Amino acid sequence: MRETEVLSTRIREVIARSSALEGPLLPILHDMQEHFGHIPSEALPLIADALNISNAEVHGVVSFYHDFRRQPAGRHVLKLCRAESCQSMGSDAIAASLQALLGAELGETSSDGAVTLEAVYCLGLCSCAPAAMLDGMPIGRLNDEKIIDIISQVRG
Ligand code: FES
Repeated sequence: MRETEVLSTRIREVIARSSALEGPLLPILHDMQEHFGHIPSEALPLIADALNISNAEVHGVVSFYHDFRRQPAGRHVLKLCRAESCQSMGSDAIAASLQALLGAELGETSSDGAVTLEAVYCLGLCSCAPAAMLDGMPIGRLNDEKIIDIISQVRG
């Protein structure tokens, strides 16, 4: 079986797991990202076809939610909070430092593939602002020292 056929088969299997649910699009997309680490572009027309909706509708939902990735992530994922409480506690400077040290903008993966830097809007850690989450682990009261620790952790 060719590589594209294998991929299509795997995508169809993921779609089939949730297509009978009421409101199946989001569960399918979450399952797709869980399975592949991102939403493969090949999945969009197959999802649209399975749910009898347009490609544009699927694309619109994928683009709307920041959590859905169109490209595979790096080996680590660092989510930096960009919402109000964290901004008021200096997250703009934290974001600038992280972007400079990693050589990646928010939404990008560092060129060594070590980390994907993502913006999120409130992690529920406002009392520990500025906050971030590294591979699902919360990090509060970010400062220069913690940034250096994070960089060495993701590149170590
Ligand atoms: S605003 Fe950043 S954790 Fe709530």
